[in-house]
Amino acid sequence: MYASFRSIGAYIPEEIRSNEWFVNRMDTTDEWITKRTGINERRIASTDENTSDLGAKASKIAIERAGLENSEIDLIICATISPDYLCMPSTACLIADKLGIKNIMAFDISAACTGFIYALQIAQAFIQSGIKKNVLIIGAEKLSSIIDYTDRTTCMLFGDGAGAAVISATDNKDEAITDIQCSADGSFKDLLLTPGVQSEEASFMQMKGNETFKIAVRTLTNDVKKLMEKNKFENKDVDLFIPHQANYRIIKAVGDALKFEDEQKVLTVDKYGNTSSASIPMAINDCYENGKLKSGDMMLLDAFGGGLTWGSALVKFAGK
Ligand SMILES: CC(C)(COP(=O)(O)OP(=O)(O)OC[C@H]1O[C@@H](n2cnc3c(N)ncnc32)[C@H](O)[C@@H]1OP(=O)(O)O)[C@@H](O)C(=O)NCCC(=O)NCCS
Repeated sequence: MYASFRSIGAYIPEEIRSNEWFVNRMDTTDEWITKRTGINERRIASTDENTSDLGAKASKIAIERAGLENSEIDLIICATISPDYLCMPSTACLIADKLGIKNIMAFDISAACTGFIYALQIAQAFIQSGIKKNVLIIGAEKLSSIIDYTDRTTCMLFGDGAGAAVISATDNKDEAITDIQCSADGSFKDLLLTPGVQSEEASFMQMKGNETFKIAVRTLTNDVKKLMEKNKFENKDVDLFIPHQANYRIIKAVGDALKFEDEQKVLTVDKYGNTSSASIPMAINDCYENGKLKSGDMMLLDAFGGGLTWGSALVKFAGK
């Protein structure tokens, strides 16, 4: 049995927060933010919308586009670093409840911005082992709830949103996900962290931006090269290069090092900022909705985040 990427959906919160919002509140400029990050605006969830609400809305679309009933989903995995509740219940359980799905396995994973790729590989393993048939994977974040809006070096980077995909079993090898590789190195734990229960400080994200930036470029470039070589892929075999959307300069540096053409590179960081685990599925959904992603297209995904964690994947889009 093979795992195939059947559908994509996303939920983009209504409120748009432009760079001007930050300029009016702290010592920064629109020019600095645009030049250093490529971000013009990001979306912010409303006070009555939690991460599970964003995730449930994205999931409904993904399940519908997969041509399935909610009752046919047999596993839900939610990747998030901004769950509704600190330890329990998991956001995946809350999403299941909002979708009216009961009596199946549902759990969260914590792999920061690499969360969606981690969830994809877990889904693939459950399907290839024959244990599950239709796995709903979600990247959902209300990062505005863990951002320190007095830290000008970090706060303008992040936004809220959610994306979801259905990964299904198939016996058609031609539809199968080609390969996924995920890694972690905890010795870099101090680069990106939320002190939370370990500390008297509030549970806000802290980041050493410049160091993270350099390691991200190097690690992502090497990781993607390794995956492409392992699968004997050339750039022309990839239709869309869909990287995690953290910073335009990271995407450009990695894209240039890998020599992808501009038409292959997908960019959404300008309008959504960094939405951590939601950024890749939101970007896939953008491509799907604007007609850039078609059935049978080969996607190359890559991501890097707190942990540190990183990963990349070659995934054929097997949706309609
Ligand atoms: C955060 C980030 C945009 C900063 O860009 P940078 O080029 O590394 O900039 P630096 O941190 O070296 O800071 C450069 C200068 O800008 C200043 N600065 C920082 N934030 C600023 C802001 N919002 N407005 C104006 N100036 C700012 C710094 O104080 C520093 O000033 P100095 O030179 O006088 O000391 C960038 O490092 C980044 O995107 N890092 C990776 C983030 C990331 O991807 N994290 C998640 C991983 S998924």
